[in-house]
Amino acid sequence: MEIRKIEADKKKYLSLLLLADEQEDMIDRYLERADMYVLDDGGVRAECVVTDEGDGILELKNLAVCPDSQGKGYGRQLIRFVEDTYRDRFRVLQVGTGDSPATLPFYEKCGFHRSHVVRNFFTENYDHPIYECGKQLVDMVYLKMELERRKGEA
Ligand SMILES: CC(C)(COP(=O)(O)OP(=O)(O)OC[C@H]1O[C@@H](n2cnc3c(N)ncnc32)[C@H](O)[C@@H]1OP(=O)(O)O)[C@@H](O)C(=O)NCCC(=O)NCCS
Repeated sequence: MEIRKIEADKKKYLSLLLLADEQEDMIDRYLERADMYVLDDGGVRAECVVTDEGDGILELKNLAVCPDSQGKGYGRQLIRFVEDTYRDRFRVLQVGTGDSPATLPFYEKCGFHRSHVVRNFFTENYDHPIYECGKQLVDMVYLKMELERRKGEA
């Protein structure tokens, strides 16, 4: 298993990016200025995208695991990788997601805590209604974790 940084042609992984964020022009708002990584385990299984939001805040903008590889720990491994890679340069890791049972419990299991809500984010920014688990997404729920050095680390 290896996690590698993608420096060029990030759109090569568009089908994975669209799994987490289904409107391409919304992905275009962050992809070029972002750092992107793919997790390869006998083929690319997952990707994640992070951006510098200023003031010591790193934001996880996109995280997706191939449908046939979900539930095997790849999503959690990418989050741990991001924590370890960026903890020296950022104070907080945040993620915004829909109010959905497909994602909120996952982020909470990975150590994020709910922070705040941006009302009507999905209805105001996307050109069509977004549904997850049969429910229309309306508000963006933000979750955060502190990126402090763990005890015992140099
Ligand atoms: C959400 C997603 C990133 C999770 O990645 P994953 O590799 O499937 O999740 P993991 O196997 O790493 O799961 C880590 C933990 O979260 C739990 N978990 C994952 N999804 C869950 C869910 N919907 N409800 C409850 N727990 C969940 C797992 O059971 C596991 O807990 P455990 O270690 O106690 O068993 C992945 O399923 C995905 O890509 N979904 C589609 C795209 C998407 O919605 N992306 C997020 C929007 S930005």
